[in-house]
Amino acid sequence: MKELRVKWQSPSNIALVKYWGKHGVQLPANPSISFSLSESRSETSVTICPRGGGERFRFRFEGESKPSFMPKIEQFFERVTHLFPFIEDHSFEIDSMNTFPHSSGIASSASSMSALAICLCDIESQIEGRPIDMQKASIAARLGSGSACRSVFGGFALWGDTPDFERSNDEFAVRVPEVHSDFMTLQDSILLIDEGVKPVSSTVGHGLMVGHSFAQSRFEQARANIARILPVLKTGDFMTLADIVEQEALSLHAMMMTSDTPYILFRPGTIEVISRIMDRRRTGEPISFTLDAGANVHVIYPETYVDKAQQFIEEELLVFCANGQYICDKVGTGPQTVVPSQ
Ligand code: PMV
Repeated sequence: MKELRVKWQSPSNIALVKYWGKHGVQLPANPSISFSLSESRSETSVTICPRGGGERFRFRFEGESKPSFMPKIEQFFERVTHLFPFIEDHSFEIDSMNTFPHSSGIASSASSMSALAICLCDIESQIEGRPIDMQKASIAARLGSGSACRSVFGGFALWGDTPDFERSNDEFAVRVPEVHSDFMTLQDSILLIDEGVKPVSSTVGHGLMVGHSFAQSRFEQARANIARILPVLKTGDFMTLADIVEQEALSLHAMMMTSDTPYILFRPGTIEVISRIMDRRRTGEPISFTLDAGANVHVIYPETYVDKAQQFIEEELLVFCANGQYICDKVGTGPQTVVPSQ
């Protein structure tokens, strides 16, 4: 084999029950559940050639070389070499881009690391002449960024050992097949409250859970919320889903506010937006929110509520968004190959 090139798009995901705290090599302290997004994706191509004397890895992001990304890429390759022995005797040219604005504050590690992991699995499948192993892609993605392991599936995915879900484990995510049809079209409008670089990386954030006074209670809460959310995903009860996801989002932020080195990741606009969403839901409207480890708000609502939600966002919430920006996203179908395999 001289040269081989593969190209995949893979989505970002939003967690409903959050992973926050880890141990060992990227193993979660508690199980989590997310859905893959439809519009917020990374597109990554990987070209491999037999290793010569030159550079081992070349990485370009949106057409430009990015030396600052190299340590993360090299660490990823070190961690996955035991899974893909061909890594040892090849050099790699990686080109990546995101479909969402780079400075938007949307975490791109889940989409980019899952896209890269799937590319490696595709290369392996072509070398060995067998189908792509998505379970292995999930393991490899996890070694790049924990939450990335959930992005290799469309719809809903669960990661982390729980007695409440068969086949669940800490090494890779599994698809949650029994989800009510109303939730398969769930909408996520991502309000970009703050475009700046996050004050704390997720690596540091996970680290703050070690020795945190409330860590054990938080892990128990997440386990209990997994047990609560699984039947809700089947019945399609939006209001109960909303109770769980809002508690999860606020607990994640509460953990950061109460760690030994505390962080407040809300911006004033975050609090305005989530308060207004809570008020609206208390009047019986099917609208909810979740948050990542940052200031942006994911507004979650059923497809049947799109018109009212958009009107509410435009009239009342957009004023709190940086440059009036938001992204309309929803549950997606998962990764897809872009160029047919050569
Ligand atoms: O995958 P990481 O290490 O960037 O952690 C992501 C953690 C959260 O996004 C805050 C929660 C989650 O489960 O995705």
